[in-house]
Amino acid sequence: MTHAIPLVKGLPFLGNTLSLTSDAIGFMTRAYHEYGPVYRVRVPGREITILAGLDANHLLINLGSDYLQLNPIYGKLAEETSSDIYLPTLDEPQYSYYRRMIKPRLSRDTLADYLPQAIELIRATTANWQPEQAVRVQEVMTRLCIEIISRSAENTEVGDELASIIFFTNRLIGSGVAFQPAFLLKLPDYQRAKRRFEAFLQRIVDQHAAQPGANDDYVDLLLKSTALDGQPLRGHDLLAYVHLPFVNGVAYAPRLSGYLLYELLRSPELLAKVRAEVDAVFAEGDFTLNALRKMRWLYGACMEVLRMYPVAGALPRYIAKAFEFGGHTIEAGQLVFIATGVTHFLPDVYRDPYKFDPERFFEPRSEHQRSGVFAPYGLGSRTCLSAGMGEALIMLVMATLVHSVELALPTPDYQLKTQIAPIPGPHKDFTVKVIGQRERIAV
Ligand code: HEM
Repeated sequence: MTHAIPLVKGLPFLGNTLSLTSDAIGFMTRAYHEYGPVYRVRVPGREITILAGLDANHLLINLGSDYLQLNPIYGKLAEETSSDIYLPTLDEPQYSYYRRMIKPRLSRDTLADYLPQAIELIRATTANWQPEQAVRVQEVMTRLCIEIISRSAENTEVGDELASIIFFTNRLIGSGVAFQPAFLLKLPDYQRAKRRFEAFLQRIVDQHAAQPGANDDYVDLLLKSTALDGQPLRGHDLLAYVHLPFVNGVAYAPRLSGYLLYELLRSPELLAKVRAEVDAVFAEGDFTLNALRKMRWLYGACMEVLRMYPVAGALPRYIAKAFEFGGHTIEAGQLVFIATGVTHFLPDVYRDPYKFDPERFFEPRSEHQRSGVFAPYGLGSRTCLSAGMGEALIMLVMATLVHSVELALPTPDYQLKTQIAPIPGPHKDFTVKVIGQRERIAV
């Protein structure tokens, strides 16, 4: 049954590095069409097996922790958090226990009680924007997303701590997950950011411990939870869990919010439809998560951004037990990537897949509803445990922005560039131009 897994053509020495760093999902999709659902790619010093397509996505849904694991490849994450129970590094049976422990306070409902304050925060941010001002999109999106996550889940203002949180997160993901050199974790700039971030996390713990249960939030939940051995969470184990919403919050939601703003600004018709439904809800003065759910154009646009910009489009897994796939044996003891984002660009799954088309998520088309075809949050038992919160957050930020201010791309034909830093996202130099505050211009 076993044939050699095909090796994708590449350059001497560099192998496929350039294609992987310029457009990873585009490259993996083309390789899927040319070589099939299993192929090998080369980067300097190593070869990596990629599994792609619908059947590969189903592996994530169907294969348990006895086949696919993370602990053997996430040693750096355990080291950097000084915790043996840091969720992303766990496999079964520990994984399910800790995931169940934290899920109740990192769900969509976590945002529900904080909506009015979140809207105020977004408005306060945009209130001083002046006509013609250039706004740096990723700075704003990161600030808004992290403040809202931190305040709603941990009752804590981020303030001046943001820069060290971002620095720490990007370096941790870069060297812990995304193959950047491990020595970067030893450099003084990272060590400084890490010390400052840990001191911030410790202050959050101390403030909560001083008033047990008073906030009824994620940190209070952690303080009354126990580890699998029945002992309270403490020390670095506790800090590793307090840190989760920050690190995961920085990674994905701000990047997707940036892409969504770009897509809305480059399509005046779509922006007008989104604005009409947003304005109607603000006019009623009753902004709830349910109201957000009913904004179908905003929802469709948000889902389409999650489809077309898979910021986590290939997920690493360690093969703990060999299995057959696509006519090949996937041997035990190796790291592979499951390119979950490839199905997002298959024409037999999504009609005209390179077209930005929010209506594909409307009934009766609902193209995303076949099992395994829509995977921005991963698939199976490890799917993002805050997907509902992430989606609501992106929609909330965008709804309030388009309600409050009129913005434009730097030029009508502006093309947004993606930057890998260390995962794909809008380029850090992406700016939009302020046209004016909406109550001060004719609406
Ligand atoms: C909307 C944007 C988001 C996207 C696209 C996203 C996507 C993902 C992905 C792809 C994974 C990894 C799944 C895997 O390895 O199989 C993940 C894990 C995770 N996400 Fe999200 N996420 C988002 C927002 C958030 C937010 C806002 C939070 C927290 C407040 C969060 C918390 C987590 C946690 C704790 C995990 C780790 C679960 C684990 O290790 O099993 N995510 N997310």
